[in-house]
Amino acid sequence: MKFLSCFVAIGLFAGVSIAQNSTVQIAHVTLRSEGDDHSFPLDVPANGKPVFTYSTLPVQLIDAPDYDVLQLCAIQTVGPANLSSTIASDGVTQQVVIDPPQTVTSIACQGTCVETWGACVDANAQSLGPCCNGLCIASRCRPFNQP
Ligand SMILES: *[C@@H]1O[C@H](CO)[C@@H](O)[C@H](O)[C@H]1NC(C)=O
Ligand SMILES: *[C@@H]1O[C@H](CO)[C@@H](O)[C@H](O)[C@H]1NC(C)=O
Repeated sequence: MKFLSCFVAIGLFAGVSIAQNSTVQIAHVTLRSEGDDHSFPLDVPANGKPVFTYSTLPVQLIDAPDYDVLQLCAIQTVGPANLSSTIASDGVTQQVVIDPPQTVTSIACQGTCVETWGACVDANAQSLGPCCNGLCIASRCRPFNQP
């Protein structure tokens, strides 16, 4: 009996440390229409599960200030679309361009990216992942407008 309770305690402890390790990043995106009418934000945890928009807004641009959405996310649209990236007028925020603009039904993200000013290569010059929003220059992820 004593053995059993000890075993359970260890099991719980292991469960907690696994849960802490599996912390996923969250992509805080904003879906924008032409003219920015009815644009809306969406939080997408990078756990591989699609987050549905429940919106028919014809989306032209998706702001992606803190996650590499174009590379690490699957953007589901109602029709065929070409996806590319651009930088918003603030000179910093990366955006996904949807051509032609159309309804986005869901976004699913998976993987990790390095936050701005974080180290993007280790001491052996091995990549630590893509930058969430910027460029890897001199071992740090730097904002697009101030490399
Ligand atoms: C768990 O997190 C620790 C500390 O952040 C890290 O060193 C380790 O590699 C992680 N393990 C896995 C399996 O992700
Ligand atoms: C995507 O771009 C290619 C090359 O410019 C073009 O031929 C194609 O028609 C485009 N597709 C859509 C859905 O706009």
